[in-house]
Amino acid sequence: MSVHKEVKKITTHVLQEMKTNGEKIAMLTGYDYSMAKILDRAGIDIILVGDSASNVMAGHETTLPITLDQMIYHASSVVRAVDRALVVVDLPFGSYQGDSKQALTSSIRIMKESGGHAVKLEGGQEIVESIKRILTAGIPVMGHLGLTPQSIYKFGTYTVRAKEEQEAAQLINDAKLLEETGCFAIVLEKIPAKLAKKVADSISIPVIGIGAGNGVDGQVLVSHDMLGINNEFNPRFLRKYHNLYEEMFNAFQGYIKDVRSSDFPNEKEQY
Ligand code: KIV
Repeated sequence: MSVHKEVKKITTHVLQEMKTNGEKIAMLTGYDYSMAKILDRAGIDIILVGDSASNVMAGHETTLPITLDQMIYHASSVVRAVDRALVVVDLPFGSYQGDSKQALTSSIRIMKESGGHAVKLEGGQEIVESIKRILTAGIPVMGHLGLTPQSIYKFGTYTVRAKEEQEAAQLINDAKLLEETGCFAIVLEKIPAKLAKKVADSISIPVIGIGAGNGVDGQVLVSHDMLGINNEFNPRFLRKYHNLYEEMFNAFQGYIKDVRSSDFPNEKEQY
């Protein structure tokens, strides 16, 4: 029996059952009401209100500038559209690192002001105190290891992480620690497929991959990337399901042409 088809609402428990049953979890990003409505009606399991909104929605080069208030704005728009999906909200850079009390305060603001269902934090051992404190408030936490874009200035590049043995061993330890601490799931970003499978096989909570191969429990992509709205981002791991950039470009040009030629509006399009 398929777990996700039976349920009216996706919860962390449903996701756990899906892993146990070997059912793959589908997750995509969402930042606004209209897109979230389509995602939810299409049957997505998790909508991630990612801090990638900093790039995709606001045009910043990195995820660092987005603020907690801005994340809450995006998350509350998404939550208003959703009936079924679990809504996970990224804690933005500067709202949790190095201060577990601030991590709890930021998470409570997200839950209270946006109505989101869980938070996501980047990092391993160094953020365990923050995760523990957030969990004391009954807020579900998703982890994020591998390429963690909030640390881009430490890494220097967006290339594949944990190719070396030492970093791979550290990542496995961090994944186990996040599970022990109480995370309900972990995102693994841009690491070798073999390593991602090893992690997914060695912990009992769901592992969701992006650029981490097919041996994990589910997949996540940035919606704007998989729809082909952003035609300048073409990493190997990205499958494009549409070329919306071109479709939208042509639609906008069609409208401009019709206005300029007085073709729009016609008689049927007026009162
Ligand atoms: O912010 C985001 O979109 C993410 C995904 C890439 C996992 O964290």
